[in-house]
Amino acid sequence: MSSPSGEPVRNVAGSGFDIDDPALAESISGGITRVEDLLHESVRSEFDFATRTSLHLVDAGGKRFRPLFALLAAHFADPAPDEVITSAAVVEMVHLATLYHDDVMDEATMRRGATSANVRWDNSVAILTGDFLMAHASRLVADLGADAVRRMATTFEALVTGQLRETIGAREGQDPEEHYLQVIYEKTGSLIATAGRFGATAAGASQEHVEALERFGKCIGIAFQISDDVIDIASPAADSGKTPGTDLREGVLTLPMIYARSASDTDPRLLELLGRQLEDDEDVAEALKLLRESSGMRRAREKLAEYEQEARSILAELPDCSARDALEALVHYVVARTR
Ligand code: IPE
Ligand code: IPE
Ligand code: MG
Ligand code: MG
Repeated sequence: MSSPSGEPVRNVAGSGFDIDDPALAESISGGITRVEDLLHESVRSEFDFATRTSLHLVDAGGKRFRPLFALLAAHFADPAPDEVITSAAVVEMVHLATLYHDDVMDEATMRRGATSANVRWDNSVAILTGDFLMAHASRLVADLGADAVRRMATTFEALVTGQLRETIGAREGQDPEEHYLQVIYEKTGSLIATAGRFGATAAGASQEHVEALERFGKCIGIAFQISDDVIDIASPAADSGKTPGTDLREGVLTLPMIYARSASDTDPRLLELLGRQLEDDEDVAEALKLLRESSGMRRAREKLAEYEQEARSILAELPDCSARDALEALVHYVVARTR
């Protein structure tokens, strides 16, 4: 649905996401600008090197998906309070910290189209920069009150548990799909759920709406990670800003691989490649090609569509307004980015 007063606003604040209502788009763009200012201000240290390593990924870009969602959630009540901006900045800063740490664990060389911090400097610098950002995020979250501090601590615990669970892999006899879904809720869905909760709470939304936005965030967060895992197989680096096949190289079993391993029509060569960690570039390229053509990939897209439906049904619980239309578009964006 397009606003009668004008055209949809494309690529709001460089997110790659469009908003139909120009007034809402303007408010969100203005909010994102304030979030950027707060992020820059917050990481300024008297030790220049820490400022530089922190700004490396802040300035490399990124979709700003979490702050965007927090700002949209705030539009279910009064988006004006400063705490709305703080909420949006906090979730981006925690996310940023996890990216520094994730690239160390995944031995990734590219992030947001730039050289990852672990390669530009080294693992120690990347880990400490992540910690530095987490320290600043904790300071900011203190401005949101004790309940927010407690919830962010729980979210942080979920992020770490998810990464640990992924590192260890499924237990003997555990259903790999169940393990995967738990991991992606923890490592990705939990923070996106908190983005919705924080934005809506800071805006003074009703308890009912806060909870619906948190549940919606959990659901699109899970969908977001499934689509990220599809993208790791299907998209070139020029689109994602990351090196394709990172999951295969690291031996992280993602949903398309889990489904391919259990499907009866999977090419035996793919099964052989999925049975071990791939170090050779040619093996990775071959596995990517076979995976793209596999029924596992198709089933992963079907699973993504289930979360899309669930997210849409949660939105139906919220009042009909331009922010809800924008969240509908956000659901579409999460699914469409895999094509
Ligand atoms: C990357 O998140 C890590 C995942 C949870 C998939 P994003 O895809 O939101 O990364 P940026 O912020 O746009 O770089
Ligand atoms: C992302 O997991 C989870 C985080 C909390 C950073 P991935 O390892 O799949 O994310 P990308 O693909 O490197 O962004
Ligand atoms: Mg990674
Ligand atoms: Mg990872």
